[in-house]
Amino acid sequence: MKFSIFSFSSSFFFFFFFFSACTFHHRVIADATVAKTITVGQSGGTDFNTVQDAINSVPDGNNQWIRINVTQGTYKEKVTIPKEKQFILLEGQSTDTTIIQWDSHSNGSLASLDAEDILTIDTATFTVNADNFVARQITFQNSYDYKTQVHIAVAAAVGGDNSSFYNCKFLSFQDTLCDFQGRHYFSQCWIEGAVDFIFGQAASVYDSCTINSIMGPSGNGWVTAHAKITSNTAGFVFKGCRVTGTGSMYLGRAWNTYSTVVFYNTAMDGIVVPAGWDSWGKNVNNVTYAESGCTGAGSDTTNRVKWEKTLQGQDLNQFITDSFNNADGWISQQPS
Ligand SMILES: *[C@@H]1O[C@H](CO)[C@@H](O)[C@H](O)[C@H]1NC(C)=O
Ligand SMILES: *[C@@H]1O[C@H](CO)[C@@H](O)[C@H](O)[C@H]1NC(C)=O
Ligand SMILES: *[C@@H]1O[C@H](CO)[C@@H](O)[C@H](O)[C@H]1NC(C)=O
Ligand SMILES: *[C@@H]1O[C@H](CO)[C@@H](O)[C@H](O)[C@H]1NC(C)=O
Repeated sequence: MKFSIFSFSSSFFFFFFFFSACTFHHRVIADATVAKTITVGQSGGTDFNTVQDAINSVPDGNNQWIRINVTQGTYKEKVTIPKEKQFILLEGQSTDTTIIQWDSHSNGSLASLDAEDILTIDTATFTVNADNFVARQITFQNSYDYKTQVHIAVAAAVGGDNSSFYNCKFLSFQDTLCDFQGRHYFSQCWIEGAVDFIFGQAASVYDSCTINSIMGPSGNGWVTAHAKITSNTAGFVFKGCRVTGTGSMYLGRAWNTYSTVVFYNTAMDGIVVPAGWDSWGKNVNNVTYAESGCTGAGSDTTNRVKWEKTLQGQDLNQFITDSFNNADGWISQQPS
């Protein structure tokens, strides 16, 4: 099933549906050993010429880690890892030299998305719906030219459980990273955009990542739009990150009423809007937005919204320790 009806109007129904569909997995996790490496390249001598062909060669029901070595090049393709193809390790040479790029965008405005439009997740350059996935050293880019007109243009959509990204880049302007659902770990990644550029309702840790605003001089952007609709353990946790870039940013706005975002030990440049957070017209009783141990000109909480939470002790630990999204140790059980 594709994420084809992801829109503001249908998100409630859709999230419930996906959560119930994805809850029951009884699977023996593969050993972290890489069983096989296949190569992708653009100048011959490799197993495949496109990333998608390499993915297609992984058998459905795969249960051993397969490395797809994507050698240097700009791969102009829209790439999808379907949920049947688990245990893929997608490895580039470096974010400067291995780039997966496409330029799909929604042609509707947020308010007017309808069935005729290319909807949010469908615009993603890279989509992973499989559980148990690792990417390293790759740039995922939506190259839609937002300067003509700003539209939804997702670079990557991550919808499986146990997915991690090391030293990757995610580039777009609006809705760069659809951190859709499941437990995810982003380490030393560069995530760039201006409007809601990390959004979805996953339970994710961003560890030592750079959050780069490319908002222009007019108006404010939003780093996150976490979309949690019920009281579960999902949220976005930023640890040891840096918030930087050119334009003014809210740290987040509440897509749904249980939106949950924590910035911990993060260096914030003076581009953060003093109020910090945007309710987006929601009742904020169940919104959890918090900062702890942050530094830099943007971290001054004097003028933050009154409803920002102050988390201490166990209330904070539930977000910043492994109990948040790694209680079963899945991160260290993947190939490193
Ligand atoms: C990927 O392939 C390139 C080119 O053949 C090689 O230099 C590199 O070592 C390979 N990387 C891995 C992790 O196998
Ligand atoms: C968006 O694109 C689709 C497919 O090309 C088209 O059918 C639809 O009319 C477009 N909608 C708008 C608002 O331009
Ligand atoms: C917040 O949560 C409480 C209890 O979980 C619930 O009764 C209330 O309706 C919620 N408020 C909103 C705005 O969703
Ligand atoms: C995620 O990893 C954990 C730990 O290895 C494993 O128990 C769990 O089944 C995995 N989840 C999925 C959906 O495969």
